[in-house]
Amino acid sequence: MLLKLTILPGDGIGPEVTEQAVLVLQAIANGFGHQLQLQHKLIGGAALTAVNDPLPADTIQACLGSSAVLLGAVGSPAFDHNPGHLRPEAGLLRIRRELGAYANLRPAVLFPALEDTSPLRAEIVRGTDIMIVRELLGGTYFGQPRSIEGNPGSRVAVNTMRYSESEIERIARVAFELAMKRRRKVLSVDKANVLECSRLWREVVTRVGKDYPEVKLGHQYVDSAAMLLVQRPTDFDVLLTENMFGDILSDQAGGVVGSLGLLASASIGGPVGLYEPVHGSAPDIAGKGIANPLGAILSVAMMLRHSFQLEREAACIENAVSAVLSQGARTPDLAGKSHAAISTAEMGRRVVEATRASTVSSSAQA
Ligand code: IPM
Ligand code: MG
Repeated sequence: MLLKLTILPGDGIGPEVTEQAVLVLQAIANGFGHQLQLQHKLIGGAALTAVNDPLPADTIQACLGSSAVLLGAVGSPAFDHNPGHLRPEAGLLRIRRELGAYANLRPAVLFPALEDTSPLRAEIVRGTDIMIVRELLGGTYFGQPRSIEGNPGSRVAVNTMRYSESEIERIARVAFELAMKRRRKVLSVDKANVLECSRLWREVVTRVGKDYPEVKLGHQYVDSAAMLLVQRPTDFDVLLTENMFGDILSDQAGGVVGSLGLLASASIGGPVGLYEPVHGSAPDIAGKGIANPLGAILSVAMMLRHSFQLEREAACIENAVSAVLSQGARTPDLAGKSHAAISTAEMGRRVVEATRASTVSSSAQA
């Protein structure tokens, strides 16, 4: 199969982690006989520095012309005082929009080897396997009007949370479809005791749920869901929620399974899927070679699964990651006191090696 991809390394640790993810992808392509066609483009702060635009037109064109997009991270303190449209994040929000990627899947899975890495006790966190389904193109991130107006000292800021029934319905369907292939539970998270958006959300999700009688649907207020996530993480199967609640709860889920550096994501629903680690640009550790590349590597697995239906290849990467963790490979975010930490590149190298080993055995089986 021809895998025609656009790579958007972006800012901070983005380039370091995407480099390792691409090496793993190359190992998969070699092992399974796929052809890779890659082009690298600018986004975020890197694009602002080069052409004063966080999402240049030729980046959009390249993404729309490929079969999938792999993104590192965007964000840099250098642009903290820029107006909204000239911030790195504006490039990310816009590419999500341009690609029509309304469904953001963020799995939070506890790797058995990391039971003692989680800040939660092993018996609480053991078996955690959550699929967060975050609505990605609506809510306060995109709602109009938005502004800061008035004179210094008496300014007023406005953001708008907005959801239409059709936006809620399409993301709810994604959650129920995923639940059918998992443990058949959807927990819809909202703030229906306070927000109109959430009342509509709950009504529409309940209606869509009638089409999936085998799926057990629950509703939870977001404050209470945040508590349950640390108290009983194994109760969760599919967690369905709106854009900002999903942003917050997915970082929390990263903490629960040991490190945000492990979390991958797929943003799908449009013509071209966008795959990115959840962790962000981490400017404090950028360039030091210590970032965890596993979130980016696991995002490549999600790409193979969701954009190319290459389930065997995806599983091969996931097994390789699980294997190197079992062998004790830890970047500093995972190392704690009990393990020596290895670099970004060394972690990547070990996953490549484990991937090669398992492609040899799976082609032998095929
Ligand atoms: C994420 C990030 C982004 C978001 C930022 C960088 C705009 O935090 O992907 O979770 O809020 O969606
Ligand atoms: Mg976030």
